[in-house]
Amino acid sequence: MAARLRVCVVGSGGREHALAAALQRTADVVVCPGNPGMQALGIACVSRPPETIEADLFVVGPEQPLVDGIGDRLRDAGNLVFGPGAAGARLEGSKAWMKEMLAGADVPTAAYGVFDSAGPAIEFLRSLSPPWVVKTDGLAAGKGVLVTEDLDEACADVEAKLAGVSFGAAGRLVVIEEGLTGPELSLMAVCDGKRAVPLAAAQDFKRALDGDKGPNTGGMGAYSPVPAVDDDDVAAIMNGAVTPTLEALADIGIDYRGVLYAGLMLTPEGPKVLEFNVRFGDPETEALMPRWKGDVSEILAAAADGRLDSVAAPEFLPDAAVCVMLAAEGYPAAPKTGQPIYGLDSWKADPSLHLYAAGVGPGLTTAGGRVLAVTGLGETIGRARERAYEGAGRISFSGVQYRSDIAARAAG
Ligand code: AMP
Ligand code: GLY
Repeated sequence: MAARLRVCVVGSGGREHALAAALQRTADVVVCPGNPGMQALGIACVSRPPETIEADLFVVGPEQPLVDGIGDRLRDAGNLVFGPGAAGARLEGSKAWMKEMLAGADVPTAAYGVFDSAGPAIEFLRSLSPPWVVKTDGLAAGKGVLVTEDLDEACADVEAKLAGVSFGAAGRLVVIEEGLTGPELSLMAVCDGKRAVPLAAAQDFKRALDGDKGPNTGGMGAYSPVPAVDDDDVAAIMNGAVTPTLEALADIGIDYRGVLYAGLMLTPEGPKVLEFNVRFGDPETEALMPRWKGDVSEILAAAADGRLDSVAAPEFLPDAAVCVMLAAEGYPAAPKTGQPIYGLDSWKADPSLHLYAAGVGPGLTTAGGRVLAVTGLGETIGRARERAYEGAGRISFSGVQYRSDIAARAAG
């Protein structure tokens, strides 16, 4: 039997916890830096720079270090890395560049314009019909997008973003898009530079409040599989969006090894790409990982090594998974931190219920906007939902907020 791989997962949130838990089935895993909640739940965490850690494989979780070039630095030092270099990560780091790449690769996406001054931006907005969509060009933790039926609000948002008020330098360029409608879908693919293989489809919930109300967040929950999406739909998205994008990257010399995550809207004219992310989705990963069968480390290592053709494609349990995110009071605008969390230290592991620590600080207190993710598994989405909410009820902290309608519609 091959020796167990030593895997270092870079990051500190719920996504990294879920990745580590799945990788740990077949590999020796450390998370760098992780957080005290993960540690309490049985994941080894080390707070040294990743460059100082010896591992057979590095898996980078968040977008910011990828955009900043951690993939290049680790690879240049001779490591095997699952995660693109800075050139590929620009797909997420600049929405304007991403739109240009999609247009060049003939990938269906919303019509758009890119602006660095308010006058022409507002003129373009006025030429479109509602809903109006204003995006910050750079990284904004999922919060740089405004979708509104109110033209005045859209114009004010353009001014605020371009003035650097809302997102600093990341907002000095805005992308304005045609408003699309339809259900949303997240499809992540594992890429080895030349080939891409899909993971199970998932759906996330970006708005803070029930009924898709309130501000956009990093994600308040997710579920998988998505009943409205079958294997043919997944194949069509791979052929129409993911593979052409990977090829377009390769054409300009980018050897993209990592996750290509397509955020799509299933419009009446077919699926259109809203965004590409260059890493695993959060909280889609918290829903997906417990469903992923077999050796996750083997597949990620093969992708990082450019030889996905040497391993079997990812396979998923037939069970449904529903993830509910427990957020801090005041999230997303001004999360209140430092609250003691009850129920985490007495959490009992269970194959149908998983707890992932996202924003947990020393002494098991709240330390971020999204604090914990609870994922339930079940034979149906309804059963998985019940499990997840039952689990959510076992955790408490002052001001805890979570949506009560995650996957409710899909459960029927
Ligand atoms: P993004 O970060 O680009 O995926 O945008 C965040 C969210 O804003 C998406 O999940 C959609 O709900 C919404 N959104 C983004 N682009 C559009 C669009 N062109 N039309 C309608 N809604 C959009
Ligand atoms: N769940 C959305 C994201 O990871 O960007």
